[in-house]
This record gives sequence, C-alpha cells and structure tokens, in this order.
Amino acid sequence: MKTVAGNWKMYKTIEQATEFFSQMSGMAAPRTDKVNVLIFPNYVAMGAVAVSGVVPDWIHLGAQDVAAEAEGAFTGEVSPQMIQSAGATHVLIGHSERRHIMGESADLLHRKLSNALQAGLIPVLCVGETLDERDAGRMQEVIFGQLDTGLAGVALQNGAQLTVAYEPVWAIGTGVNAANEQIEDAHRLIRDHLSQLLGNPVGSSIPILYGGSVKPANFAAIVGLPSVDGGLIGGASLKPDAFAELIAIAEQV
Ligand code: PGA
Repeated sequence: MKTVAGNWKMYKTIEQATEFFSQMSGMAAPRTDKVNVLIFPNYVAMGAVAVSGVVPDWIHLGAQDVAAEAEGAFTGEVSPQMIQSAGATHVLIGHSERRHIMGESADLLHRKLSNALQAGLIPVLCVGETLDERDAGRMQEVIFGQLDTGLAGVALQNGAQLTVAYEPVWAIGTGVNAANEQIEDAHRLIRDHLSQLLGNPVGSSIPILYGGSVKPANFAAIVGLPSVDGGLIGGASLKPDAFAELIAIAEQV
C-alpha cells in the first residue's frame, strides 16, 4: 500500500478547495487497497469542504498543525477534537516550515504529537536535515534527534497510529529532489531507528513517506523504491491533474 499525501500549505480559499475536490470527484476512484490518498488543507477550507460533502470518500483529510492542549484559553489554536469534527484522521507534526519559520521547538512538537495521538489522530511526523547539516555530515544525528524528541515516551500499540515523512529541507519547494540513493539511505536509517525506539513489529510497520519536490515526472522512480511507502507532496498537490497523475503512479507500483 502506498500513500499519496498532498500538503496544501497556505494555499486555497474555500472556493478553490471546493473546485479541486469537485474535479477529483469526477475522476474514477483509485483502488483503495493499492493507494491511500490524503489531503492536508488549511483549517478554513477543511471545515467548509467537510460540511459541504464535496470530498470523495476515497480522499482522507488531515490538518497541517494541531494544538498541544485538548481545550482551553489558547487563542488561535485548534484542538484535535475540532480537527476530528471535520472528519479528519491525520495531522502533520513538525513540518520543516513550522520548525524553521515558525520556530516550533522539539518540546512543543512532542507535546503536539502526544496530544494528537491521545485523541486518536494519526500524526505524520516530519523529519529532515538542512543542507548545512547534510554538508557537515550531521544528517543522521539530526533526523535521529527529531525522532527521539518527537517520540519520547510514546508507546504505540501498532504502526497504524503513526506515519513518518522524510523531507530534506533543501529539497522542499526547490525543484531539487533528493537522489534515489539519498532517499534509500535516509529511509533505512529511519526504519532502523524506529524499530529501536518502538520495538518490532511496531517500528517496522510505520509508513515512511518521502517529501521534497515530488512531481509526476520523478514520482514513479521514488515511490518504487523499496524503502518508500509514499510521498508527501506540496506544490504538485495543488493541481487536480498533477495530483491525479501522482495517484495513478502510486496505484501502479
Ligand atoms: P514540495 O513540498 O513538494 O513543494 O517540495 C513538500 C512539503 O513541504 O511537504
């Protein structure tokens, strides 16, 4: 089973999101035993499309962020329960834009992940090194550190509760995707570390997605790699045609 996940970032109004899902509804549903399709819209668009019923039942929704608390006086925050009330099942935790632009700390991300898990949302924990860190030979140290702090004290019953996305920061939105050997190398390290941290079979069953400049032209080679369970896609997930192509590619692996 491969996953095709679209991270819309801060794009799409309610009208634009509705148009996207209407177009997706018009296409033949993919084989859901072959491909798991996820879209992470902004909160406003997600709530609206969930209520209007325009999302085809084979597309699952996720949020791009979540509060570290269940409820209370936290102006601007959105709780797991609110996200679930829109029918969403997943949430991104620690996307590099939140780590590096919003300055979210390892401790905050750990609290967000625990809060999401406790509510029954599936966290998609994003990890990845910057170019400076890679050049300094610190890729493994950085990724392991992000996994260690994010998953500290977390006990999972089965792998279905968590997904990890490897997104090298230097490949996000740059048009430069990681080379296949770099992806395999990082994914193997992540897999071994998850098994160490969480034990098996949990560690070996957590899907590991690749993200960073994925597009229809390079996706077949990436999603076909043995260590890759799918893609987390930004730019190419915004256009229905390109996203449909990515789904079709994953379905054929
Ligand atoms: P990109 O973004 O596909 O536009 O590089 C990926 C991501 O940030 O998740």
